[in-house]
Amino acid sequence: MTPFIPEDKLMEIKDAASLEEVVGQYVKLVQRGRNLLGLCPFHADTKPSFTVAPDKGIFHCFGCGAGGNVFSFLMQYHRLSFPEAVQELAKRYGIPITFRELGPEGGKSAQKRQLMQEINTLAAAFYQAFLKGSEGQAGREYLVQRGLTEEVIKAFHLGYAPNQWDALRLHLQNRGISLEVAQEVGLLVPRQSGGHYDRFRDRIIFPIEDRQGRVMAFGGRVVGEGEPKYLNSPESPLYSKGRHLFGLPQAAEVLRQTGVALVVEGYLDLLALRVHGIAPVLATLGTALTREQVRLLKSLVSKVVLVFDGDQAGARAMQRALPLFGQEGLAVRVLPLPPGLDPDSYAFKNGVEIFRSPWESAQPWFSYLMEELIKAHGLEIEGRVRILEELKPYLQNLADPVEQGLWLKVAAERLKVDEATLRRSLTSLGPMAAGRLAPAGQLLVNLEKGLLKWVLHHPTAVPWEELEEWAQEFEDQELKGLMALIINNFREYGGLDHSLLIQQVEAENLRQQICALTLGEEEFCGPAVDLRAADWRRFLKIRRLKKVKQALKEKLEGAVAADGHEEVPALQAKDQEIDRQLEALKVGPIAEGEN
Ligand code: UTP
Ligand code: MN
Repeated sequence: MTPFIPEDKLMEIKDAASLEEVVGQYVKLVQRGRNLLGLCPFHADTKPSFTVAPDKGIFHCFGCGAGGNVFSFLMQYHRLSFPEAVQELAKRYGIPITFRELGPEGGKSAQKRQLMQEINTLAAAFYQAFLKGSEGQAGREYLVQRGLTEEVIKAFHLGYAPNQWDALRLHLQNRGISLEVAQEVGLLVPRQSGGHYDRFRDRIIFPIEDRQGRVMAFGGRVVGEGEPKYLNSPESPLYSKGRHLFGLPQAAEVLRQTGVALVVEGYLDLLALRVHGIAPVLATLGTALTREQVRLLKSLVSKVVLVFDGDQAGARAMQRALPLFGQEGLAVRVLPLPPGLDPDSYAFKNGVEIFRSPWESAQPWFSYLMEELIKAHGLEIEGRVRILEELKPYLQNLADPVEQGLWLKVAAERLKVDEATLRRSLTSLGPMAAGRLAPAGQLLVNLEKGLLKWVLHHPTAVPWEELEEWAQEFEDQELKGLMALIINNFREYGGLDHSLLIQQVEAENLRQQICALTLGEEEFCGPAVDLRAADWRRFLKIRRLKKVKQALKEKLEGAVAADGHEEVPALQAKDQEIDRQLEALKVGPIAEGEN
């Protein structure tokens, strides 16, 4: 995580803010032993998998793997940046914090983003007022002609940018807003001759809001026909189109309830569905669905139904989006529309019955894909070969081997190929599939992971100076780095504060792993900790000896191959000595089967 904010300030805020209290505002928690348990707010949880450890200041969900400390919780829940989460907590707990304390970069960028966001909010209100006024009449008429209701126009804060070159510029200028920043957020465009003019003119305005309803960007549609049909805010430090989805704050609550999101391509598709009473809808922003958007979806719902336009482009966009769902492990189905219709025209023509239980109306993504490919290539031998070739990356992409196996069966049956052969052809080429096979060092890593987990559970069982020696022997660089960090905490603070440890780790997946290990079931709780410590020493020693033995073996082979037989007896003697030592290490301080 960004280390810009001074650590003592962070500690102060972290210590003032109780994780239990903060989480408790959003999640109903019940006591379960030392920990608290609730329904996970980051996925559609059915049995409580969300664990909060108040004594350690961390949380972890055993369902979706989310985890972190109080800062990460707010960041994930409200989609905040780290400095924003810090600021939010500081505010709630009455701890004064200055932009300077947010650090040179964190402070400046947080300050800048906040300013940009405020300018957007001002602009949104300005556009909204114009849509209601006399100049907005054509815009209003157009929206009504498209079937939108007053209620929907209001709920989505639609607006109208007047047909003038400098209406917004003057509005901002009168309020002392920096035109440079307004330019950076894309509302104004610099003139070659100096000065600025309004980017959006004579357009219907769709504000793009984040989860909390803060305006991040705008889309502007021509009233009626014209080119370009849409103008959008450019990418800026505030806005990246691949990270947002239109309609989020309006749908957030119902998404939480239903757990299924419909994803459409256009603003008007979403709004048309909304007019017809279909609320759990989000829209992409004129680009292919991105990994960030899929992750955003994953934090909101457990199932996604893609409803793209019934044309070639829509089908292609759908096909390109599917691997992301497989990789991120989010369930997806597709709801293809009849040719020539988009969700908007479909809803007005045929009604919205199929969108009421979208998951049930939709097709499994793999069958959809396969049938599309069969339509394109046919079921002759050549076509089937081609189809399998095209299906392969989709199958290899799947994070879940069970799902992979099931679709493999479906493909083998439909395309009449031998399932085992198909499976082999997947593993021979698939980098992903190969990666899932246990790597050679698996057992070593398990030892290291087990040890790290034990240390996280019993940080003081072994003096940190000894832990440092153990860490030297770690081969997995990630785990080794974590051990080093833990040791450093002992050196600096004389103890281990799990929530602070989380703070010191940059990578999200590592933070989650630490929480998972710390709050995970302890396999080694039986015997006393010092016995277990002795056992770890033994395991490490065995591993060390085995490595020496392996090196000896190679040396021996080398000597034999090079006819250097005079070295052989000495090497063999060493080998036997190691065997003796290994034999002696076979029995540990803990009786067999006590784990
Ligand atoms: P569509 O062309 O399907 O637009 O583009 P739409 O939302 O259905 O609007 P209508 O029904 O034609 O009025 C889908 C989305 O792609 C982006 C917009 O986000 C739009 O909602 N887009 C489209 C652009 O960004 N620029 C364009 O020129 C066109
Ligand atoms: Mn449309």
